[in-house]
Amino acid sequence: MIGERMKIAIIGTGYVGLCTGTGFASKGHDVVCVDIDEVKVNKVNSGIPPIYETDLEDMLKDVISKNRLRATTNINSAIKECEVVFICVGTPSDDVGRIDLKYVRQSALDIGNALRECDYKVVVVKSTVTPETTENIVIPKIEEASGKKVGQDFGMCMTPEFLREGSALKDVLEPDRTVIGEYDQRSGDTIEPIFKELNAPILRTKIKVAELIKYANNAFLATKISYSNEIGNICKRLGVDVYDVLKGVGMDHRMSPYFFNAGAGWGGSCFPKDVAAIIEKAKELGYEPKMLQEVVDINKRQKVRMVEQLQKKMDIKNKKIAVLGLSFKANTDDIRDASSIDIIKKLLDSGAIVAAYDPQAMENMKHIFPGITYNENATETLRDADACLIVTEWEEFKNLKDENFNIMKNKLILEGRKVLDKKEIKDFDGICW
Ligand code: UGA
Repeated sequence: MIGERMKIAIIGTGYVGLCTGTGFASKGHDVVCVDIDEVKVNKVNSGIPPIYETDLEDMLKDVISKNRLRATTNINSAIKECEVVFICVGTPSDDVGRIDLKYVRQSALDIGNALRECDYKVVVVKSTVTPETTENIVIPKIEEASGKKVGQDFGMCMTPEFLREGSALKDVLEPDRTVIGEYDQRSGDTIEPIFKELNAPILRTKIKVAELIKYANNAFLATKISYSNEIGNICKRLGVDVYDVLKGVGMDHRMSPYFFNAGAGWGGSCFPKDVAAIIEKAKELGYEPKMLQEVVDINKRQKVRMVEQLQKKMDIKNKKIAVLGLSFKANTDDIRDASSIDIIKKLLDSGAIVAAYDPQAMENMKHIFPGITYNENATETLRDADACLIVTEWEEFKNLKDENFNIMKNKLILEGRKVLDKKEIKDFDGICW
């Protein structure tokens, strides 16, 4: 170690790996990002992020120009050169929602092979893994492949990531807290300097606790949204706006006003997969997590609620329905588990004709729904439409005015996210308001 500057290898140059690596490099560490995908590696080395993320391109170009970050497909040499190795590979869901650990196992094997000829290093799991994975799978695999002993020849930690798409770099550099699950004190002491300079509280704990903190965190956030939506559905029946109600609730300091945005449900690459995985893990441990199952069920129903509300107002068969917003949230082209998918499917199943627009996500959606109409802007999508559903809270939808909607055949507007300006648009309805 040169002062506090460390040599860090990051295995997996996806969303978490690249943002974490770029963030660490911006703090002066020497980072080498490893990926099996040569195209991705070449892109990163020329300063082009393979994913879109706010400020990532500028920061990546900067750290590359300062020789603080490079990418490679050679995992062996990357590990040999570093002091700390972060595992940042994906942990997708299998068919029943259990976590699929194939990439984590492969990384452990590769790290183990490289460690055969190495002195002490610390391996850190940052991929989201269910409790017991690091101790029952990662450590034994590394020990087996390396012939070395954890706590003696190499150290082991688990530091969950709390990155949000759209603000991932900020979340790396200005986290609410850092959780370090450590095999022993030496392991934790070795990696703590990387996080100390981020000026956020550091919680040092057991590995299994750190693994569960990640799931408990996402499960609570998903629960908070499903709770907001449940209250929202009651509000709708009472003719009140859920945002007025939750504003009052959020003023209780035990509650916090954040993440109370009721609407058309939660999606993305994290909540659906992580809540499903912790449910499956609980069952494996002999516990039926009924509340979390209901959180998922509420969400499933919430995603298509707008279509049901629309069907109460009109027969949608052969009617043109404009869908504004396809990504699972604003400022991303990510459509994984987006509410728009369930909504479009239900519209099509009911015989509607769908026209859609999204500033970023249309190319991705074309793979799922090649047969619907994709328009170049919101106004074109609204032309001659019989109804409009607003599904993602894109900034540009906030600027829509009455004149944009006047070209609809029938001006029936239903919001699934709170975006429209009441001063600008007369007569629109909301999912929970
Ligand atoms: C989420 C967590 O917020 C991060 O802390 C976590 O690190 C990440 O998952 C992960 O596990 O890697 P992300 O999926 O990027 O981050 O997106 P969020 O901003 O949390 O939104 C998730 C979904 O919830 C979106 O569909 C969003 O529209 C919905 N949402 C969010 C609401 O419906 N209401 C809200 O108040 C907030």
